[in-house]
Order: sequence, then structure tokens, then C-alpha cells
Amino acid sequence: MEFALFCTRVNVLIVLLLALCSPCQFIQSPIDFGPLDLLQTTNTASLDFGRIHFNSPSAVLRPQSPKDISVLLRFLSASSYRKVTVAAKGAGHSIHGQAQALDGIVIEMDSLPSSIEIYREGQGEAAFFYADVSGGALWIELLEESLKLGVAPRSWTDYLYLSIGGTLSNGGISGQTFKYGPQISNVLQLDVITGKGELVTCSPTKGSELFYAVLGGLGQFGIITRARILLQAAPRKVRWVRAFYDDFHTFTKDQELLISMPELVDYLEGFIVLNEQSLHSSSIAFPAQMDLLPDFGTNGNSKVYYCIEFAIHDYLSKDTNVQQVVENVTRKMSYMPSYIHIVEVSYFDFLNRVRMEELSLRRIDLWDVPHPWLNMFVPKSGIEEFKDLLMANISPDDFEGLILIYPLLSDKWDTNTSAVLPADQVVYVVGVLRSAKPSAPACSGACVSDIVRRHRHVAEAAVGPRIGAKQYLPHHSSPAQWRGHFGRNWIRFATRKAQFDPLCILGPGQGIFQKTPLNL
Ligand SMILES: Cc1cc2nc3c(=O)[nH]c(=O)nc-3n(C[C@H](O)[C@H](O)[C@H](O)COP(=O)(O)OP(=O)(O)OC[C@H]3O[C@@H](n4cnc5c(N)ncnc54)[C@H](O)[C@@H]3O)c2cc1C
Ligand SMILES: *[C@@H]1O[C@H](CO)[C@@H](O)[C@H](O)[C@H]1NC(C)=O
Ligand SMILES: *[C@@H]1O[C@H](CO)[C@@H](O)[C@H](O)[C@H]1NC(C)=O
Repeated sequence: MEFALFCTRVNVLIVLLLALCSPCQFIQSPIDFGPLDLLQTTNTASLDFGRIHFNSPSAVLRPQSPKDISVLLRFLSASSYRKVTVAAKGAGHSIHGQAQALDGIVIEMDSLPSSIEIYREGQGEAAFFYADVSGGALWIELLEESLKLGVAPRSWTDYLYLSIGGTLSNGGISGQTFKYGPQISNVLQLDVITGKGELVTCSPTKGSELFYAVLGGLGQFGIITRARILLQAAPRKVRWVRAFYDDFHTFTKDQELLISMPELVDYLEGFIVLNEQSLHSSSIAFPAQMDLLPDFGTNGNSKVYYCIEFAIHDYLSKDTNVQQVVENVTRKMSYMPSYIHIVEVSYFDFLNRVRMEELSLRRIDLWDVPHPWLNMFVPKSGIEEFKDLLMANISPDDFEGLILIYPLLSDKWDTNTSAVLPADQVVYVVGVLRSAKPSAPACSGACVSDIVRRHRHVAEAAVGPRIGAKQYLPHHSSPAQWRGHFGRNWIRFATRKAQFDPLCILGPGQGIFQKTPLNL
């Protein structure tokens, strides 16, 4: 045992020497250096969904077990290679290189054996279900496994091909968040390997400081190798409703009405309909003939619409008339008369709806393109002003993608986690989800940079005191901006960093902490 560990250390040392001292030297991969297979690189280690940053690591670890990760981090903590950074990479769906490690080591979490175990605890009324899931597993895998037993997580993301560890490092939000909180509010326990290489099992009652640090912690404190996720009985079907508005104020008022009825409504989102194309592309998974809206105006004088999307779970029980619930809810709403569509789909198809959009975009080569996205949390008090600010920086005619807008309730977020939210009780998510088209009219290079620049301008104006917004999936370019992002929680964040990753090895792609290089 001792001997094996010793060998591992020596072998890691050899690889690091090769990889770090001679960046130009070609090393054949895969390289087998005993128990830790470090690769020179892989096709994926410097790539993410954003396709804006492409930082290459010096080496890649494809761990076979959490122990491999612990061995690597223990070695880096103890050795004099203190310039080496490490980033866990889940499904690589970040926008700004957050899972990259320039000249460091990327740990590709998808190589860990995926394990999903579902448990039931307690008896009768008090019984509840949870799943123990490996950190690199995808939410779609958890959905498929849990549905076999008629249960499922309560809180989701729109897209399910994201890793458990990746979304728990941010928040994990979707149309269920107003009701159940984000995914980080639905975790019972975590296995984490800290920056010092310690494998810790933590929960709200045991090792709570690490538990809360890691949730929404942007990969700064440890690597999640296992998560215990709360489950509930899964509905069989879902009534899925879309209603249209031509007035922003009426749209948001109705959204706020719907989140005030959590006993009836199970999911609520909404989006801006900028043009006919955006209506079409956001409706691929929605099985209804969407009538065209009246008029999107002409160049320079565009008219936009808004769509509320809500859903009600159907357990196919004889005691509830879901159609009547839908009618009761829609009767209270103020959408444009007759602009409403109600469909019924399976729970699985509803949750996996973005996959259909992905497959459709892949067919026309519009998936693997740059994605200059901006996600903001905007307090209710500033949402009108933010919408105007955003629209002043967008031209609806050539906008490719989607703008999501929907409210959450901040009291469903645990303030002990590292996640950052504005202070209002009602907070809007605004997701500006743009794709850069590779062909006529193409948007590449300078065009993508221009969108990124305009988004930065919008974000910087919005985080000021007038609107008081915060970035979700944050990307900041200076230490001062990061301190502003965390606000009064900055001290807590930095203290947790000093405790769990004192050498600042983890999460370099976020650019929050600069590693102070010690001389070798
Ligand atoms: C098409 C699409 C749809 C999306 N929809 C939503 C949505 O509806 N709601 C929402 O909340 N988000 C959404 N996102 C954003 C998504 O949740 C984040 O980008 C998330 O980080 C992606 O997970 P990932 O596994 O790809 O993470 P990665 O990009 O691989 O990693 C993200 C960060 O987490 C760290 N990390 C990764 N794994 C671990 C781990 N096991 N332990 C510790 N740190 C780790 C990385 O180092 C990095 O800093 C969407 C993204 C895309 C591309
Ligand atoms: C719908 O509303 C009516 C009138 O308020 C009420 O009697 C009925 O129980 C409601 N139905 C459901 C299924 O909620
Ligand atoms: C979480 O924060 C609250 C205050 O917001 C505090 O009272 C509580 O003790 C904290 N819980 C843990 C486990 O740290």
C-alpha cells in the first residue's frame, strides 16, 4: 500500500516534469504511468460549449476512481509544484472556459464509473426517496434510472446532458426552482475531495462548512465525487401550456401570479419572442401547431412578444381533474385572447425537451458553434429597466437563439451555500442564449467578440446599484469585480478557500483567485 502510493507519486512527478518543463516536447498519449494515467491532452480538455476560450492544459487525468483524484491533489499539495492548477471538467457546458486549466491539469469526470443507487428511507407517510449519484454522471442518467422506480428529482435544469457536479457547482435552475428551490437546495450529502486531497463526506450536519461551500462554489473548494439527491414520486404525464403576451408588464404580472400558486403549478418559465424564427426554434419539442403571431414589425421598428410556459403534473389519479386545474389557472391569466396552447406529454419527454432542440440544431450544424451567453439574476424591482437595457443592446431581426425570463423565490435558496442571489424576495432569471451562425450571415471572430463585449456592458450596468443584478454562471475579469459579485459574502468565500484549497489549486478557469507562484 505504502509502496504503491510512493510509486504513484514518483510517476506523477515524472509526468509533471515532462509536461510542465517541456511544453513543446511531444509525448505520445495515452501514457501509462502506473496507477495514474495522465494524458498529454485530449480532444475535449480545452473545449467547452461556449467555444470562445480554448485554454490548453499540460496534462489530463481520466480518473478511474475518486482515489485517483485524491492521489493527484495530495501530491500537488505536498510537492513544490505549486504552480500547477487543477480543474474538474463535467460535461463541459460552460461558456467562458470555467472548466479549463491553462497549463494545468484537467480532470475529466466522465471517466469515473457512473453509479446511481436509489434508496427509500422511512415508512408510510414519512417515507422518502433519495439517490446516490457519482459526480460525473449526467442528470439524464439519473432521470432514466429513477423513473424505473417511479421517482425522480424535484428540481431540474432545462437541459439534462449536464453533470451532477457541474450544475451543483453553480446552482441548477429551471421552471421548478420557484417551488422547490435550485438543485443545490435539494442535496442531502456530498462526497468531496478538497484541494488538499482529503476525501470528505459532508452534509448540513456533518462537515457543514465544506458542504455549503461546495454548493454553488464554482469548483473552488473541492471536487464532488458523489451527491445524495432528494427524490419524489414522478408524475406520469404533464400538461404543458404556452400563452402569449404583447405587453411586458402583463407578462411578468402573470408569471408572478403563477408562482404564487405552488399548490397548483409545477413549473413556470417564459421567453421573449423576438422574431418568427425564434418562435419556431423554441417550439420544436412543443407538439402543437403554433399560430403565427400578428406582426413582428419591420426593420428598425420591431415588435416583440412574450410567452409564458407553465406545466402541471398529472399522476393519472382519479381524484384530480388536471384539465380542470389548467382551466382554473388559465382563467386567472391575462394573455392575448385565444393565443394559448395546451398539450399533454410524458414526464420524460417534458424534462428532456431541450434534447429535441439539440438534435434539430445538430442536423443543421447549429449546435457546435460559439455561444456568447449571458445569464443574470435580476431583482423584481429592476426587471423593467433591465429588459429595456437588454433590448437596447440587441437587434431582434438578427438575433439567433432564445431569451428566457422567469421569476424565482429567493427564500427557496439556502443562504449558507456559496451561490449569489440579489436580495429581493422575487428574482428574475434572464438567460440570453445566443448562437453564432457559421453561415450567411455568418457571425464569427469579431462578431462573437462584439456580442461578448455588449453582454459585458449590459452586465456591468445591471450589477450597479440602480438594478442590483447578479450574474448567474458568473464571468468576471478582475478581482474587484469578483469581490463585488460576492458582496458581503466575499470574506466568507475567501475564508472557505483558505480552509479547503489553501494553495489555490482548484478551478483556475473561473479566474477568481490568482495563484501566487512560489519559486521552485
Ligand atoms: C444547452 C445548455 C443548457 C443549460 N441549461 C441550464 C439550465 O436550464 N439551468 C442551469 O442552471 N444551467 C443551465 N446550463 C448551464 C450549466 O448548468 C452549467 O454550465 C454547468 O456548469 C454545466 O455543467 P457541466 O457538467 O457541463 O460543467 P463544466 O462546464 O464541466 O464545469 C463547470 C464548473 O464546475 C466545475 N466542476 C465540474 N464538475 C465538478 C465536480 N464534480 N466537482 C466540482 N466542480 C466541478 C468546473 O471546474 C467548472 O468550474 C445550461 C448549459 C447549456 C450548455
Ligand atoms: C376549480 O375551481 C372551482 C371554482 O373555484 C372549484 O370548485 C374546483 O374545485 C376547482 N377545481 C380544481 C380541480 O382545482
Ligand atoms: C445557516 O445559516 C443560518 C443563518 O442564515 C444559520 O442560523 C445556520 O446555523 C446555518 N446553518 C449551518 C449548518 O451552518
